[in-house]
Amino acid sequence: MGVGRKAAALMVLVALFLVAGCASLGGAGNAAERPKSITLYAGQHKEVVEPLVKAFEEKTGITVRIRWGETGELPNQIAEEGARSPADVIWIEATPPLVGLKERGLLAPLPEDVLAAVPAPYRDPEGQWVSASLRLRAVVYNPDLVKEAEIPASILDLASPRWEGQVAYAPSGAFQGQIEAMVQSFGEEKTLEWLRWLKAHGEMYKNNTAITKAVNDGRVALGLINNYYFYIQKAELKDQLKARIYFYTNGDPGGQVLGAGVAVLKHAPNPEGAQAFVAFLLSEEGQKLMAQNSYEYPVREGVPANPALPPFSEVDPKNSDRFGPAYLTDYQRALKLLQEAGIS
Ligand SMILES: [Fe+2]
Repeated sequence: MGVGRKAAALMVLVALFLVAGCASLGGAGNAAERPKSITLYAGQHKEVVEPLVKAFEEKTGITVRIRWGETGELPNQIAEEGARSPADVIWIEATPPLVGLKERGLLAPLPEDVLAAVPAPYRDPEGQWVSASLRLRAVVYNPDLVKEAEIPASILDLASPRWEGQVAYAPSGAFQGQIEAMVQSFGEEKTLEWLRWLKAHGEMYKNNTAITKAVNDGRVALGLINNYYFYIQKAELKDQLKARIYFYTNGDPGGQVLGAGVAVLKHAPNPEGAQAFVAFLLSEEGQKLMAQNSYEYPVREGVPANPALPPFSEVDPKNSDRFGPAYLTDYQRALKLLQEAGIS
């Protein structure tokens, strides 16, 4: 009898503990009690992220806790944290690492209306990530050192004695995307040969900012960059700007549309808040705000780009149906080639 009573008392205690626990965690199923905050793992530029977060917080009353990190590191962190990750949303400077998270089963499906806002080449065919903005691979050059007409019709042809010591690059995630496009266009063998030439005769810089500066200062003739770094420099230097930008529009992988990707985590502690954040990012309001605060292109059709940029139709590399973000699913291959060439 004594044991039975003790067991009953213990069960009551356990029940009370569970009720108290649920109430304090706000997990009792009542929407009003759910957390009014989300955690965003952010690797995208601060100038883009901060105004959007502020506008979202003001509009919804949901607080966004930002954990800043590198585009290449945040997905690994989430993979390590697994189901216990505090991340609700990940927003980074590339999309291939999101493919990696999807393959590990760590992303949640996005709703139809969000997917419908993003043209097919710029989102996951299975609907688990989208590009939140678009950036273009382009060439920045110094007209004192190279005339526009001299830039070869394919970046593959930069690997020649004419360009020794004249080509700047940075081993960024975007560069990796471009290498994948080269593999798809020219095959692994030619791409590896090109990378070996670049390692031997190219000029490696820390990042795209360092490249645009070196080109502008005449230390190197041209560089492979993301378009917006040129416009940031242009806004800073105004009349003092020497460098110019060249867009490949003939389908060559010298031009490529890449995405800054966003996704909701499968184990998001606040899935509704996470979905609301992504929906806001892709809304007309969110896209306009992004365009005002950056030199990236809106991904949502009908939203005008920053007036400092040429119209997208004029600079579209016309190859997104081959190596737009939706087709960059084997980015490990590019990484392998970069390692083989001794670049990263
Ligand atoms: Fe960037």
